[in-house]
Amino acid sequence: MEVRVDLRSDTVTKPSPEMRKAMYEAEVGDDVYRDDPTVNRLQEKAAEKLGKEAGLFVVSGTQGNLVSVLAQAQRGDEIILGDMCHIFNSEAGGVSVLGGVVMYPIKTDRHGVLSPEQIHAAVKPRDYHKPPTKLLCIENTHNNTSGQALTPADTQLMADAARAHGLRVHLDGARLFNAAVSQEIDVKELTAPVDTATFCLSKGLSCPIGSVLVGDADFIEEAGRWRKILGAGMRQVGVVAAAGLVALDSMIDRMADDHVNAKKLAEGIAELEGIALDPGEINTNLVRFGVPKGSGDTIAALMKEQGVYINGGDSDLRMVTHYGIDSEDIDFTLLAMRKVMSEVA
Ligand SMILES: Cc1ncc(COP(=O)(O)O)c(C=O)c1O
Repeated sequence: MEVRVDLRSDTVTKPSPEMRKAMYEAEVGDDVYRDDPTVNRLQEKAAEKLGKEAGLFVVSGTQGNLVSVLAQAQRGDEIILGDMCHIFNSEAGGVSVLGGVVMYPIKTDRHGVLSPEQIHAAVKPRDYHKPPTKLLCIENTHNNTSGQALTPADTQLMADAARAHGLRVHLDGARLFNAAVSQEIDVKELTAPVDTATFCLSKGLSCPIGSVLVGDADFIEEAGRWRKILGAGMRQVGVVAAAGLVALDSMIDRMADDHVNAKKLAEGIAELEGIALDPGEINTNLVRFGVPKGSGDTIAALMKEQGVYINGGDSDLRMVTHYGIDSEDIDFTLLAMRKVMSEVA
């Protein structure tokens, strides 16, 4: 059957007609000369929205995290981060490969939070046997804990613990607007406690490419140097940034629909035999659930035959709602899932 519903990720979203029009009409210039007015507008608007001095348009969330870490920690320095976070698990060790930065992972709780006690204990004393600890990295929403939205209070506690040791704090906010929308708060409440933050345009905001990194002006200057070292100084990239400007105006509030759809999906799936899922834990657009050990790939393959595309796995699967998914797609998915789980059982 042709795939009708693609729940692999919110990265599969396609630009809206309004974005395509803005891209077509975008005013452009050479961004390496800082001459692209559309990129400049996007960077300013993103920084203003997140309450920071300046912004830098980067290729991806991974690159935003990478240049942020490299601009704040030198070769031989250490960063503290959660053991389930994206930087540690899914960015191919880039900060170590390219920057010689040591990653020190600490146990993440089921909501994606690191306790102040763990942070205090992780910071190294001044001792030439140890790498100097420079930076704490946190993640909101937290992908591997089913998109848990960290609160401003969680964020402040973690940041205060880091600051007590003179560390800086970076927030990987690939889905930061999901976190703000789900709590009905201004995104600035989630960024005020941290020094630097990224968010992705290419996920729930539905742009084709890009992320924005924000922080103070000196930091952004240094991050721009690292972006150049990584070969990602871009030229007339206003054609892409134009979609980002549209997204910041028109794609944030609608994420509430993705959260409603995710909840409906979670509630339906949780009723099926063989599924481990507490729908009460789902508060943004990521729905992770347990399936019988070793059955994940089979379930994904059978779902595809039913017209629903999800990633495989062993005993942990994920479905992601987004701009391309409506309530009927959720009904369709639940029907397919019911059929597939009865076959697997
Ligand atoms: C929490 C988090 N951070 C960073 C990234 C990386 O983003 P990108 O795929 O644009 O490199 C992702 C991607 O899924 C993510 O979930």
